[in-house]
Amino acid sequence: MAAGRPPEPAATAEAPPNIALIKYWGVRDEVLGLPYNSSFSVTLERFRSRTRVTFGGDGDRFRLNGVPQSGKPREAVVRMLDRIRAAAGRSDGARVDSTNNFPTASGLASSASGFAALALAGSAAAGLRWSTRRVSALARSGSGSASRSLFGGFVQWDAGVRDDGRDCIARSRFGPDHWPGLVDYVTLLADAPTKAVRSSVAMQRTVATAPGYARRVAEVPERLEAMVRAVRRRDAPGLFGLVIEECDSFRNVCETSDPPLDYLTRTSRTILDRVRALNARAGEPVVGYTHDAGAHLHLFTLAGEVGALRAALRGVPGIRQRLVLRPGPGARLVAPTARPPRGSR
Ligand code: PMV
Repeated sequence: MAAGRPPEPAATAEAPPNIALIKYWGVRDEVLGLPYNSSFSVTLERFRSRTRVTFGGDGDRFRLNGVPQSGKPREAVVRMLDRIRAAAGRSDGARVDSTNNFPTASGLASSASGFAALALAGSAAAGLRWSTRRVSALARSGSGSASRSLFGGFVQWDAGVRDDGRDCIARSRFGPDHWPGLVDYVTLLADAPTKAVRSSVAMQRTVATAPGYARRVAEVPERLEAMVRAVRRRDAPGLFGLVIEECDSFRNVCETSDPPLDYLTRTSRTILDRVRALNARAGEPVVGYTHDAGAHLHLFTLAGEVGALRAALRGVPGIRQRLVLRPGPGARLVAPTARPPRGSR
């Protein structure tokens, strides 16, 4: 740092991806990002977006995994920086450096972890001492699911009923250590196509055209409460049955949209069939499947059942990678790397 010049305001944050067990799919207010229904997710361990925001100078620069970004990805980052600047009364530019320790567009939602990390690092760098709830609301403006990645463990994002969105908040329901035996067995597929339609556009197509959308929205609150009860009691068959019911409801409104939104591939359908057969043999759900707007599958089960699940999937062609992930902590600010004191080297 040059002598006499104040340090540039900067902060670094890390945020994890999350997978929704009750899906967010459709907004009642596009400007405020207010969803039609509440959602419920598990924050995943191990994978992280790490983002450093440094204010100063003119113009905004955004690098993802070391590569300068332009167009839509940069515009989304600039929009969030604009919100931060407006709240903090700043007008300077910012440098945003973000890296993911998992492949972008690998089926693990990098938009959730990316916008959560940006919201946390950006607000801190700008000197805003915001509560996690407030940072979560900022993250929501980048990507709805990002609002949940601020929190660890099992997270509920309440849709709220107010027009101003003040009751639309994400909050932790159970911490990451609540259910040590629960795992997400992620199957990443070789044949997964890249997204043809952005989620924000796709979900509004469903709202406008899927005949069963209103029914789904009406059903979700009861399903969500039942799911929270199952997690509280660590009732595995109860949870897995509800996870499947919800995933099928989500997929149904996607597939009956006009034109249809078809996210699964032949491999993902084979995996779902194998899981259904495994559950039928067991006489109760021992695995709960879910997927987002993509073909990769998240198979929730107990650590003790992973062997049986692996055996049930034996011989399925097209699985590129399998990961066993547990619930993990939420986003956090990372202390700047300590510099050795002057003269120590
Ligand atoms: O947060 P977005 O705009 O990328 O949309 C997420 C939509 C789903 O992943 C399908 C569901 C969810 O709640 O995460």
